[in-house]
Amino acid sequence: MPKTLIEPFRIKSIEPIRMTTQSERVELLEAAKLNVFRLHADDVLIDWLTDSGTGAMSSRQWGAIMEGDESYAGARSFYRLETVVQRITGMNFFVPTHQGRAAEKVLFTAVCQKGELVPNNCHFDTTRANLEVLGVEALDLVIPEGLQPSVIHPFKGNIDLARVESLLNAEGDRIPFGMITVTNNTGGGQPVSLANIRAYSALLKSYGKPLIIDACRFSENAMFIKMREPGYANTPIPEIVREMFSYADGATMSAKKDGMVNIGGFIVLRNEEWREAVRNVLILTEGFPTYGGLAGRDLEALAVGLDEGMDEDYLRYRLRTAEYLGERLAASGVAFVKPTGGHAVYIDARTVLPDMPIAHYPAWALCNALYLEGGIRGVEIGSVMFGKRLADGTETYHSMDLVRLAFPRRMYTQSHFDYAAEVIDEVKQKAATIRGVRITKQPQYLRHFTCECSWVDA
Ligand code: F0G
Repeated sequence: MPKTLIEPFRIKSIEPIRMTTQSERVELLEAAKLNVFRLHADDVLIDWLTDSGTGAMSSRQWGAIMEGDESYAGARSFYRLETVVQRITGMNFFVPTHQGRAAEKVLFTAVCQKGELVPNNCHFDTTRANLEVLGVEALDLVIPEGLQPSVIHPFKGNIDLARVESLLNAEGDRIPFGMITVTNNTGGGQPVSLANIRAYSALLKSYGKPLIIDACRFSENAMFIKMREPGYANTPIPEIVREMFSYADGATMSAKKDGMVNIGGFIVLRNEEWREAVRNVLILTEGFPTYGGLAGRDLEALAVGLDEGMDEDYLRYRLRTAEYLGERLAASGVAFVKPTGGHAVYIDARTVLPDMPIAHYPAWALCNALYLEGGIRGVEIGSVMFGKRLADGTETYHSMDLVRLAFPRRMYTQSHFDYAAEVIDEVKQKAATIRGVRITKQPQYLRHFTCECSWVDA
């Protein structure tokens, strides 16, 4: 058997990407206020900003798009997708939303009260922001290994059950539900084991609390379970997925990830209790419950994509891609979150730039350096994204400063990864010359998207 794991698809339609010169990129980044979110995508060669909504759809999905029923109410496309989602999750109540954060906003607005508290392994930035804007505290309780980039653990996304239990004892009255994010995006795309989800669910249940899964990358999580959790090596992915959801009372989903589509999301619920409130908020902000902010054709593409995302050959190739880049980085002596996650590789900027003060945002600086060196766009997952400027002008910092290189699904081939490995190696060798930044302008929420920066040494 040849050892090389190939892309399990061939390419039918291509999209050119554009090389820029280094001096062009210096100007482009300055014009973007040293914030890669503000760049024009046409000025990026390899765009690993996110794996969200950026992947390639299959010919089957494009075919399904022509089947879209655009009726306002009761569209055939809705019922088709509903059947697929019910089969996959085992949950009965399903409403589409236009993306994941809309699912969060609708669910949280419907069921959370000011002053409450929601535990999670790690909240994604929009999940945290959608809770905080309602006056709800978002608490991250990932196991300690999940915060140490170099520590190897098969399920670094697991939630710390002892801390959850003491929280339930101390603050139980304030907790409307517990959440778990699969895979743990902000903690390195790390998986959560079935054993952990099962025990977390049982613990919550013993206190009368429901469990909500942030399910964006449920298929990748299931593949890690198959590969790493004892007893699941021969279990088909859909069965693992079904077991994962069996422990939950509901889920929010950004279909832009493992749904394999460019736009979409949904809420599923097992219990009856929240349905009416969810439907009411949905109608107010997203649309009628059979389209939820999406076109009928989007619902069709998702109905096909959800199953394609669970294909084992695809998932094996998908996880191998990240692992391959990890091996190349290890060979260059570049520190990253180990083992590599499902959708991305997370470079540990504090280790790559050991002399840069955290106040100069090393991961932001490294992100800028990757763009300047090779036209690669990653994203900072660190103190710009998760830190805050307090009223007295001081800052809080995140526990890690990571650069996430997130891979759009079915889009880049091995030579793109080889090129990136060379660029990262080059940047690592120039580490001492990489410049930190200060934030000169920032909004109140989710500052990383739009903030403006300048070089600290300018
Ligand atoms: N939850 C998780 C774990 C996510 O990773 C995301 C999005 C969301 C919720 C929100 O979904 O974007 O459809 O509104 N993550 C993207 C990323 C943006 O780049 O990781 P959305």
